[in-house]
Amino acid sequence: MKTVLVTGCSSGFGLETARYFLDRDWKVIATMRTPREDLLPRSEHLRVLALDVTDPDSIRRAVEAAGQIDVLVNNAGIGVLGALEGISMATAREVFETNTLGTIAMTQAVLPQFRLRRAGIVINVTSSVTLTPLPLLSVYTASKAAVNAFTESLALELQQFNVRVNLVLPGRAPSTRFGENAQARMRDSIPEAYAGLAKSVFEAWGQSTAVTQAVDVAEAVWRAANDASCPLRQTAGADT
Ligand SMILES: NC(=O)c1ccc[n+]([C@@H]2O[C@H](COP(=O)([O-])OP(=O)(O)OC[C@H]3O[C@@H](n4cnc5c(N)ncnc54)[C@H](OP(=O)(O)O)[C@@H]3O)[C@@H](O)[C@H]2O)c1
Repeated sequence: MKTVLVTGCSSGFGLETARYFLDRDWKVIATMRTPREDLLPRSEHLRVLALDVTDPDSIRRAVEAAGQIDVLVNNAGIGVLGALEGISMATAREVFETNTLGTIAMTQAVLPQFRLRRAGIVINVTSSVTLTPLPLLSVYTASKAAVNAFTESLALELQQFNVRVNLVLPGRAPSTRFGENAQARMRDSIPEAYAGLAKSVFEAWGQSTAVTQAVDVAEAVWRAANDASCPLRQTAGADT
């Protein structure tokens, strides 16, 4: 029986991915900043561990407690929507700290065991906005595009050890807590000069019916974990 460790399992794609793998007889280590046992079905194959991907001690403790894993899913992430002029450097750093450096740090933490066993898969969840740029998402898109580039270079470096590194690029998923969780970073993020642009962006989103569901992401992660011929980049969602 194989083991997957998923980051950011308290809601959205991470929670659904944990559920998807549990249903298919994998051992699942569901990690969250604030561990909750009541989010996933009770199972002898489930462990819930505390993990904040921006905290080196938390990473060390979680990876030690996890023991041997076969697949790491770097899913934890935060968003911010706003004009660059309305986003503080503190917020830009926060977004990179979680989305980009959090992914790099978690990957670095599991690589020794993957390399020694000559086996292992890292799956990084980025975003389809890195393929189709949208306005008001410059900082977020940059944080995810950096992960795409990181993944593609690392994949070449780790081929010799039979370690795979893959990307899943979801589309827009209004059903997760992503938008709500981003609100705190979006105070004053649309200065008056950008109000017209923001209005047109929100109107376009309001009209689009095709969106991404959490299960689309879980399916793509599942494929990356189970199909060695899977392309390095997979999009996920009807809108991608
Ligand atoms: N929803 C979308 O439209 C969309 C589209 C493309 C890509 N994505 C990406 O998909 C991933 C999952 O997003 P989602 O839509 O499922 O959003 P979500 O419901 O907000 O879930 C994000 C998860 O990341 C966790 N998280 C945030 N900061 C963390 C940290 N420092 N350490 C550990 N966990 C942390 C959150 O935990 P807390 O409960 O502790 O905050 C939450 O469990 C993200 O990487 C996001 O960028 C989302």
